[in-house]
Amino acid sequence: MVVPTLNEADNIDPLLTRLSALDLPVSSFEVIFVDDGSSDGTPDRVRAWEKRVDAPLHVRLLERREKPDLTRSILAGVALARGDVIVVMDADLSHPPERLPALIAPVVNGSHDVAVGSRYVPGGSTVGWPLHRQWLSRLGGWLARPLCDVYDATSGFFAFRRELAAAVAERARGYKILLELLMAGQGKLRVIEVPICFHDRTRGTSKLSFLHQWTYLQRLMTLAGGTVSVGTASRFAAVGLFGVVVDALLFQWLMSSGAGLAMAHIMSFFAAAALNYSLNSKWSFRRHHEGYLRWDQFGRFLTVGVFALLMRGGVLALLVYGWHVPSFLAIFPAIAATAAINYFGSAFYVFPVRLNPPSLDVRWRVASFGIVLFAVLLRLVYLGVAQLIPDEAYYWNYAQHMDLSFFDHPPMVAWLIWLGTSIFGDNEFGVRIGAFVCGLVTMGYTYALTRNLYDKSTGIRAVLLLAVLPFGFVTATLMTADAPLMAAWAATLYYMERALLEGDSRSAWLGMGIAFGLGLLSKYTLGLLGLAALLFVILDPIARRWLQRPHPYLAAVLALLLFSPVIIWNIQHDWASILFQSERATGIGNKFSLQWLFLHMLLVLTPAGLMAAALALLPERDHDSSQFANRRRLFVRVFTGVPLAVFFGLSLFGAPKFHWTGPVWLALLPTMAWMMGQTSDMRSIAIRLRAAWKPTIAVCLFFYAFAMHYVVLGIPGIPYAGFTEHYFWREATHEVEQIAAKVQHETGQKPIVVGMSKWSVAGALSFYNDKEQPMDIRSRNMFSQNAAMYNFWYPAEPPTSRPIILVGMRPWQIERDIEGNDNITPVLIQPGAVQEVAIERDGKPLRRVYYRVAQGYLGSRAQQN
Ligand code: GDD
Ligand code: MN
Repeated sequence: MVVPTLNEADNIDPLLTRLSALDLPVSSFEVIFVDDGSSDGTPDRVRAWEKRVDAPLHVRLLERREKPDLTRSILAGVALARGDVIVVMDADLSHPPERLPALIAPVVNGSHDVAVGSRYVPGGSTVGWPLHRQWLSRLGGWLARPLCDVYDATSGFFAFRRELAAAVAERARGYKILLELLMAGQGKLRVIEVPICFHDRTRGTSKLSFLHQWTYLQRLMTLAGGTVSVGTASRFAAVGLFGVVVDALLFQWLMSSGAGLAMAHIMSFFAAAALNYSLNSKWSFRRHHEGYLRWDQFGRFLTVGVFALLMRGGVLALLVYGWHVPSFLAIFPAIAATAAINYFGSAFYVFPVRLNPPSLDVRWRVASFGIVLFAVLLRLVYLGVAQLIPDEAYYWNYAQHMDLSFFDHPPMVAWLIWLGTSIFGDNEFGVRIGAFVCGLVTMGYTYALTRNLYDKSTGIRAVLLLAVLPFGFVTATLMTADAPLMAAWAATLYYMERALLEGDSRSAWLGMGIAFGLGLLSKYTLGLLGLAALLFVILDPIARRWLQRPHPYLAAVLALLLFSPVIIWNIQHDWASILFQSERATGIGNKFSLQWLFLHMLLVLTPAGLMAAALALLPERDHDSSQFANRRRLFVRVFTGVPLAVFFGLSLFGAPKFHWTGPVWLALLPTMAWMMGQTSDMRSIAIRLRAAWKPTIAVCLFFYAFAMHYVVLGIPGIPYAGFTEHYFWREATHEVEQIAAKVQHETGQKPIVVGMSKWSVAGALSFYNDKEQPMDIRSRNMFSQNAAMYNFWYPAEPPTSRPIILVGMRPWQIERDIEGNDNITPVLIQPGAVQEVAIERDGKPLRRVYYRVAQGYLGSRAQQN
């Protein structure tokens, strides 16, 4: 046992007395005190025990003469020790000596390499520590946990096999020798945490200082692969400050000369970045920088910079458009956000540590953490400033007509929007926050499922894939039924695994019932997982026993109960919704469309993702034929294969929708993520795939960031085109409001505004309509064309002499229906010609809108007949 001491005189006797009481064999146990020049007589107290002939313990003293340091002291003690197993313990009796046998047992018997006396596992606790110390300790633990998977990585009471100490870095200093030891093991150590009850010292004072905590943070970053030191950080800050001045001044000047937000911040950014790079590489990170300009490094710097730039556009937009902060102030928080991204990007990616780099596994974890954080923040920043797409606006209309269910979807999307807008108001953020939260829930369950199927590292990579692949990113950004569907799908898979593979967890059935029910309330497709579960229990003999137990049936009843609102609504509405969905899925003729399904899979997965998915479904190379591996394979294949097969089947006869397969990949993500880390798989396809991930991740993220910047602020030099006839409804609605006001002024009557698409136009006009002066908005069912929920909300419009304004995204929409029949003109009174309006923002064209004005309406065809 090695006990470091610094002024612990009053603790020596009590400590050794309590240790003696354990009756440890004198021949194989020794206590080595390592003192760092205590001035209170600690060495004398130890020496008294050292000299005692009748001593029940073998005590030795090492007096160091170097600069006091806890880590160095412990290593010096280890060097002196004669045993094979070392225990480190504080002298202040904070750690109960009585736990010693329990702590060393796993190391002595060889089942583990390191045993940690842990406060943060069940059975462990902390007594008598002031709140701030507890939080500090917790925080320290949380920061270290992703790196070493130990709950109490800052514990001062631990046991290990002696030779491990040799691997501790030469430069290691400070309080956290345990963390150094764990990290030096490169993730290969078998570590166990033994619960202990930590008591604050009763004698003497703590030597932990602010400097120790600062050193700890620095060491953590270095162990994670980042280049940090007070030196680099302060030099980086100095350079950055200079950059801020250039950036802000140039931005101000460009704004005042009318450049517009996007142009101004992009130009000033590049000017400041060019300056910063040359100064940083020559000065801040100079030790890590050989020679002159290195192109690969410059490329990395640019990559980080572009991401920072696209994020900063969002911050600017949020502040200027969202919160109405004047732009000359808003630029400063925007610059701060950029600086943070640039700093961590530089430390971990542009100029990473070269000496003792962390293991591949740790590098993956750190990279995943950074990338996922970026993706989530990107969403959060742009969530409220990017205008709604028509689908989201339509679902917002659902929430204005709250009901048990709806025609084209079950109610979850409406309920979430209702909740979000009740809290945050009728704005984009309120509508989308539900999708954002669903995205986080999906991530959580995906991580947990993957950890259970494989391990934590794989779990982190699965979350990375979910965060960057289109099916994960898009569904967590846009508030459609797919957002809650994904969350419920991930949750259902998680509980399915617990119940069917793990088997002994009964509460999993409860979770599954809830997840399944909520999932059905989101989108009927979730039912396919029930089919998959059925197939799994048929194929898997171990899971089959559940068929004879009540749990699965109770879970099904629970799910059905949760789903009952949809059933009640359908009973009230002649099964309209269920018929519509089954028709849509199966009935679109017999047009072979499998090629479309493949194209859509390519879009939602990217080429690398599709390749990985294919590989993950194929038989594994080096066959792990343990029972668990076999059942895991079956689980993944059944839960991916069943829904996929259904979509394949449907696509043989009709066109698939492009987001159909989205949730299907959730069951395959664990295996895909696992394959990413299999560096031993030397098949050329596997090697190529591993090489493809990095560019795939970068391109995907770039695409999202670019797209959001583009739709919110624009990108100088790239005009809006193509898709925009479905977008920019804020500006388009404003224009329609003005037309309506003009018509009202001319006729003296309030017009009826009719959106001439199924629901896009009416839905978007309603959302962006000025809530103080609402227009009367209807949809095209006034002209005997299907308009989804509008059929229910406005079933029959009476004839009227009020003016009618027809609004369409394309001219044909206000003249005829999809088949080319004109059901419109005959029921209008004095219909006018089609007019085109160009919608602009800051003088730049956004899109067009088409309208026609009539002087009245004769009622629908049906009414006339
Ligand atoms: N040789 C030597 N040199 N010993 C030292 C030094 C030093 O520079 N600094 C502290 N010690 C000894 C103390 O005498 C004590 O025996 C032990 O190391 C722990 O020091 P404390 O001052 O009691 O630390 P603490 O109670 O604040 O922190 C404890 O709990 C933390 C939990 O978060 C320690 O166990 C930490 O290692 C632990 O992280
Ligand atoms: Mn202490």
